[in-house]
Amino acid sequence: MSTTSPSPRLIPITADTIDAACAISVRPDQQHLVSPVVKSLAEAYVHPGVAWPRLIVDGDEPVGFVMAFLDIAWNPSKDPTDIRSGIWRLNISADHQGKGYGRFAVQAVIDELRRRGATRAYVTYDTGPGTPAPFYAGLGFHPTGELSGDQPVAELTL
Ligand SMILES: CC(C)(COP(=O)(O)OP(=O)(O)OC[C@H]1O[C@@H](n2cnc3c(N)ncnc32)[C@H](O)[C@@H]1OP(=O)(O)O)[C@@H](O)C(=O)NCCC(=O)NCCS
Repeated sequence: MSTTSPSPRLIPITADTIDAACAISVRPDQQHLVSPVVKSLAEAYVHPGVAWPRLIVDGDEPVGFVMAFLDIAWNPSKDPTDIRSGIWRLNISADHQGKGYGRFAVQAVIDELRRRGATRAYVTYDTGPGTPAPFYAGLGFHPTGELSGDQPVAELTL
């Protein structure tokens, strides 16, 4: 990469950034909380209209990875009008946690969802040790009472 901007920002995954994205890794004790970036990018490949993957960089430094999901019919047999967008994956590099990059990435996705006309953002998360539930609660997400698989669903009104 040849960027020099000093503030965090999201950049697309390209031939120039894919290695940096795949090198992003959370702490060993957090591996159960989020898929490796390489798996997320494989999912993005098979869901091209839904996945919105981005590398989080600060200046030239890759610090994390975020992937939004866009306009999913949440439970089409129950309510075909329930179309949702939100945070699908968020991996902040072990060396760069606690510096505000997670908050930045969620806000950047929210900004993108607003641009696309969304009125709510959703996230699901693991509830095991180290759960990011308090992180999302601190950003204003509230549990909806639903489960997606075994993960609680939380929403934020935009
Ligand atoms: C959860 C995660 C994304 C947070 O990213 P981060 O860059 O470390 O978080 P930030 O520095 O932006 O923190 C923002 C606030 O959330 C708090 N916070 C962050 N992670 C937290 C956690 N696990 N539990 C409680 N609070 C947390 C911070 O203390 C900070 O609080 P403050 O505003 O009072 O100072 C990151 O730790 C991570 O990648 N975890 C492993 C994977 C994961 O769980 N991803 C989410 C999958 S849905």
